[in-house]
Amino acid sequence: MSDKPAKPTTTDGGIPVASDEHSLTIGADGPIVLHDHYLIEQMANFNRERIVERQPHAKGGGAFGHFEVTKDVSAYTKAAVFQPGTKTDTLIRFSTVAGERGSPDTWRDPRGFSLKFYTSEGNYDMVGNNTPVFFVRDPMKFQHFIRSQKRRADNGLRDHDMQWDFWTLSPESAHQVTWLMGDRGIPKTWRHMNGYSSHTYMWINAKDEKFWVKYHFKTDQGIECMTQDEADSMAGKDGDYHRRDLFDSIKNGDYPSWTLHMQIMPFEDAKTYRLNPFDLTKVWPHSDYPLMEVGKLTLNRNPTDFHTEVEQAAFEPNNLVSGIGLSPDKMLLARGFSYADAHRHRLGVNYKQIPVNKPKCPVNSYSKDGVGRTENVSDPVYAPNSYGGPEADPQRGQDGTQWYADGDMVRQAYTLRKDDDDFGQAGALVREVLNDEERDRLVDNIVGHLSAGVSERVLQRAIEYWCNVDKTLGDRIAKGLKG
Ligand code: NDP
Ligand code: HEM
Repeated sequence: MSDKPAKPTTTDGGIPVASDEHSLTIGADGPIVLHDHYLIEQMANFNRERIVERQPHAKGGGAFGHFEVTKDVSAYTKAAVFQPGTKTDTLIRFSTVAGERGSPDTWRDPRGFSLKFYTSEGNYDMVGNNTPVFFVRDPMKFQHFIRSQKRRADNGLRDHDMQWDFWTLSPESAHQVTWLMGDRGIPKTWRHMNGYSSHTYMWINAKDEKFWVKYHFKTDQGIECMTQDEADSMAGKDGDYHRRDLFDSIKNGDYPSWTLHMQIMPFEDAKTYRLNPFDLTKVWPHSDYPLMEVGKLTLNRNPTDFHTEVEQAAFEPNNLVSGIGLSPDKMLLARGFSYADAHRHRLGVNYKQIPVNKPKCPVNSYSKDGVGRTENVSDPVYAPNSYGGPEADPQRGQDGTQWYADGDMVRQAYTLRKDDDDFGQAGALVREVLNDEERDRLVDNIVGHLSAGVSERVLQRAIEYWCNVDKTLGDRIAKGLKG
């Protein structure tokens, strides 16, 4: 209870109301009258409270903070946000992928790691995951992939058969599925996991030299994970465990942080590198492109209104600032369209005027009118004009569009190179990165997952799939499935 005197309740129009408890009726026992505008406003507002949930990544939580550049990477990018000593306000949103808005935080799934940097040159969004790779390499398959992870048409249930059917018919998923079935498939908290751009992006320096880059946000809290049993039991006890953990940590002044490292590839290397560097199902081994430290991300402020600051947050990979561009990664290029389209559907065409999405630098756009517009537009409303309206800078428009492409139109995701195969890096993860206990848990997790409603036909393909990743692993899984 607050000691302060209560403020008077008002309608949305600011008019004080007579009662928070009783509607206006004809006599205490009589009918409600239609001109009780306040009751109607309350009911109408309530009926419209839920907005469309994000298609994937519906369940999540977020916080504000800042990113501070501690090293000098100006040789690689001219982006103001990455110049030495620069400190930029940020928003982050963590999420699971497949679950709905109320689903448990501890389901096995990749986690989203979405960042918005409110830079002096406009908003820059880095919409990544806690994994360095992804399940598919062609955007045509993304929709199908997500549907296979969500719910069946007939009974509305999630279905392991559907998941493994898709995965085993899509061998390029092997690297990400190996990662997902390992310990890191269920982080202990959002604070205890890394964030990766996964995609390759372009950086451009002040001399207009270009580089291919990958982002790695390494947790300063250390990696910690939950076992399947711990996660299952937590899902029953506290479905919002990760959301609560982040909020409570920040509330208690225990501010989580991540150190950003980059992998940087000279522009020309991409042509001859032994792997296609734009294929999202592969990492660049650290021995080829070592990590280079850039700065620190710290989260230190909770939202005060989850709806306006987290649910209405709109992250989009096309929000790129000068000095940062896309790459020929087909998935990334498709994402450049998809997110803004999702936001127009989910939040309305003027979603960039919602305070959490608003840049902290001047906006001089020619967009005009539309539902939900709150900012006044002034003349001239067209370009070119003779009346002092904003003028585009052709130099800026060149950023990130500078690579050469030529060829027949085809439907094919990349030309295979010497070391491009679907199982090699997944096998390296199993044999060279995991220790014995981690490998044991990987076998248990896969056997457990495959033992829940997967049909015989799909099971046989799953055993082959795992034998292709690693023969010993596949044999152990086959043995485990026999019981
Ligand atoms: P390195 O030995 O240099 O790197 C191994 C990487 O594996 C580290 O980044 C480490 O993350 C990560 N790792 C450790 N344990 C696990 C686990 N249980 N699940 C998933 N990742 C884990 O080798 P390479 O760069 O040559 O890569 C070898 C394999 O490691 C790759 O095929 C890939 O599967 C995996 N990997 C590689 C990454 C890369 O960008 N090169 C990034 C993440 C994974 P950390 O030290 O950050 O905790
Ligand atoms: C959310 C599409 C691949 C990370 C979304 C949303 C869409 C989408 C439509 C919901 C956006 C919203 O309503 O706000 C796609 C498409 C992809 C793709 C079409 C591939 C072709 C990826 C990849 C990653 C990723 C590869 C990570 C590297 C995320 C994250 C969110 C998200 C983190 C949640 C954003 C938030 O926190 O609001 N995606 N996605 N997606 N996606 Fe993707």
